[in-house]
Amino acid sequence: MAQPTQQAPVAQTLLESALDHGPGAEPLRRQLFQRLRQAIFDGRLVAGSTLPGSRALAEGLALSRNTVTAAYEQLVAEGYVVSDRQGTRVAALAQRPAGASTARHPAPAVPEVPAMAARLALIQPRAPRIGATPLALSPGMPALSQFPLAAWRRALDHAVLGGGPAALGYGDPLGELALRTAIARHLAVARGVRCAAEQVVITEGAQEALALCVRLLSNPGDVAWVEDPGYRGAKSALQAGDLRTVPLRVDAQGLVASESDWAARTPRLVYTSPSHQYPGGAVMSVARRLALIEQARRHGAWIIEDDYDSEFRHAGEPIGAMQGLVDGAPVLYVGTFSKTMFPSLRLGFVVLPAAVLDAVRVPLAEMLRGGQRHAQLAMAHFMDSGQFSRHLGRMRRLYRERQQALRAALAQHLALPHQTEGGHCGMHLLVRLPANCPDQAIAAAARSHGMAPSPLSGFAMRPQPQDNGLVLGYGNTPVELFEPLVQRLSLLAQAAMT
Ligand SMILES: Cc1ncc(COP(=O)(O)O)c(C=O)c1O
Repeated sequence: MAQPTQQAPVAQTLLESALDHGPGAEPLRRQLFQRLRQAIFDGRLVAGSTLPGSRALAEGLALSRNTVTAAYEQLVAEGYVVSDRQGTRVAALAQRPAGASTARHPAPAVPEVPAMAARLALIQPRAPRIGATPLALSPGMPALSQFPLAAWRRALDHAVLGGGPAALGYGDPLGELALRTAIARHLAVARGVRCAAEQVVITEGAQEALALCVRLLSNPGDVAWVEDPGYRGAKSALQAGDLRTVPLRVDAQGLVASESDWAARTPRLVYTSPSHQYPGGAVMSVARRLALIEQARRHGAWIIEDDYDSEFRHAGEPIGAMQGLVDGAPVLYVGTFSKTMFPSLRLGFVVLPAAVLDAVRVPLAEMLRGGQRHAQLAMAHFMDSGQFSRHLGRMRRLYRERQQALRAALAQHLALPHQTEGGHCGMHLLVRLPANCPDQAIAAAARSHGMAPSPLSGFAMRPQPQDNGLVLGYGNTPVELFEPLVQRLSLLAQAAMT
């Protein structure tokens, strides 16, 4: 066996610096393990070389033998060394782990940009929506300060107590039946959607519902139509599914799809927001709806109907959903509670056509896990107890008032030619601007003044000169702020004019 006196210098060389015996230092066995591991990483201990015996190393380093044995055991457990009757030898590592390269053994050159999915490059950057307080005029943001938090807390209490320990386990992957039932009932009355509770699948907001439609009904490379300008979240969901997104223009009656589009660029999926086109605000005429359904049927396409904010109708008669227009329409109806409740709830849903239910039940059970059970049960209670309808009624009145105030402020204080569009429902207006008022520049300047209007051109895949304007959210902005905000916006727009 090796003598301690001979092993001491070997041991010290291996460690390169002394162990820290001071108060608060890491345990010695851990320090020793790390130093030996480093010696293996940087090649001072090469594969196949034998470590000193534990007794010898302990003496050489003035440590207890237990300390050395524990460090060796850890090295064995993690595979850095192997131990047998012949001793403890350094294992052969195929490559050194992260941070282990040295001048003696430089890490192999890695490409500057590592291999990534090509689809990531398609996703366009945009101004972040997260933040302590949403900025004024943010599109799509409901009136957070008006949400009945106390009632929601009681609904959560009800869900936690009522659900008991059973609700802590895995839930139905398609969602809590109580919520699916409440949604089916609500949609029938409020949106004219025809469905049974079993057709409703609960998702993490509309975004997951869109991703689910892609995964269930399309294959990579299929064509998907999107509205242009249109909702960016939909484009991202389709692109993330490796679909070929084809932008179709929208006019005052919604998505424009010609015979030649159907013939030459036949889609598998068609994304549309027919009740309140986002962000332009058009309502798809019934003639277009029927034609779209008819063509989709003929070409084996699926329509994804995004009905994100129609509960807040401000003018005219309610417009029913496309889903309920024709029996057995090839429509997947997507909804969200991000606007009717609040965005961080992350609850949405998709109503699947009855015809696909049998085929998707097993795959869905593998793809989903039915999380957020308490939030789902609370939402069901909130709906069943009538509080959801009351909240919608209050918010509808509030948004109507806020929209009128914003319209008045625009008419009075936006001192440049413009055209206000949309607003028959929801929480935003579109203000189209002349071409010499670049919307991106105005929006960027507005952010530094606490406002977050969205530039219209940012919603277009192939921006046209008329896609220049600002999408102004009024949901989360109090009435008294519109005048000063629009005055400021007007100055910023004038300053940005070219
Ligand atoms: C057109 C449209 N659809 C859906 C949503 C809701 O998305 P989510 O439910 O993922 O929050 C939004 C929100 O901004 C939207 O603007």
